Amino acid sequence: MQNMTLIRKLITVVSLITATPVLLMPSVVWAQQGQPTIEQLLQEPFLDDYYSNVVYGYEIITDTQNNASRYVGNSLNCSNCHLQAGTQKEALPLNVAGMYPKWRAKNGKRNGIGLRIRECFLYSMDGIMPPEDAPEVLAISAYVSYLSQGQIMGAEPEGRGVPTLPDTGYDPNPANGRAVYLEQCASCHGVQGEGMVGMPPVWGLNSYNKGAGMNDIREAAGFIWANMPLGNGKSLSHQQALDVSAYLNLQIRPSDPRDSKFLKLLEHLIN
Ligand code: HEC
Ligand code: HEC
Repeated sequence: MQNMTLIRKLITVVSLITATPVLLMPSVVWAQQGQPTIEQLLQEPFLDDYYSNVVYGYEIITDTQNNASRYVGNSLNCSNCHLQAGTQKEALPLNVAGMYPKWRAKNGKRNGIGLRIRECFLYSMDGIMPPEDAPEVLAISAYVSYLSQGQIMGAEPEGRGVPTLPDTGYDPNPANGRAVYLEQCASCHGVQGEGMVGMPPVWGLNSYNKGAGMNDIREAAGFIWANMPLGNGKSLSHQQALDVSAYLNLQIRPSDPRDSKFLKLLEHLIN
């Protein structure tokens, strides 16, 4: 009797050991190598609900113009500021799922990742705030979760946001900033800040609006210092970054949507 139970137990154990790798093969392989890359996902003939949303989110971030156009009011893509599809440190990386919900002084309440995403549509993309359950918002949330894999929940990821520049002892000087702009930026972003093919505008009605995080002189200076001129980041002095940021800040751009609905309508007509 005792022998039988032992044998049965042995059989169960052996069959479990042999069956497990077969049943769990894909996830075991992924778990070992880390999660699949976007390139790998794009080649899969079939994706489950989670990963199809991840890929859709990626496509929205990198080509917002075509994949979320109904909520976009300017000519930017999310990845023009969230560089390398939100994977680059010190360039507003999007591996931040573990930071939310979070209190935000800007709207005076606790924000989930969904609201945070929707606000970038309203300000940075000078568009309309998508509804909470818009497929675009859900897909971007999935992509943000995907990027956040391996981060410690509640802990600030390394390289989050942009660097905070030290106090240089001088105020940001837009006149000096103009010289920096013409010398170091205009070749790509245009003398009138209008951008060109493959180069996003940095002011004008197709740029981010006055309510956007990038319209904050220090925030933009941190971004510019770390990342611009593109491919040659950290080549400007802190003061040059502050100066050129102050110059951008003086230029015309869409109004803050919190200021006036009428103004927004007028801009829309001019555009
Ligand atoms: C070699 C071309 C090039 C130069 C020079 C350059 N940029 Fe950029 N910049 C880009 C590109 C391209 C992007 C978008 C990056 C992307 O989509 O991956 C960008 C993005 C930006 C953004 C955020 C997106 C936007 O349009 O608002 C700002 C702000 C910016 N650059 C400012 C500057 C400033 C200031 C300088 C000069 C110090 C500068 N850039 C120099 C190519 C350049
Ligand atoms: C013009 C530049 C710009 C564009 C375009 C832009 N963002 Fe942002 N985004 C920022 C800045 C600057 C911040 C951080 C400052 C702040 O909180 O206001 C930010 C913050 C975020 C955060 C929070 C990051 C964190 O560290 O907590 C998320 C999520 C986000 N953006 C999503 C998006 C999405 C999605 C899009 C496209 C629909 C987008 N952004 C387009 C500039 C931009």
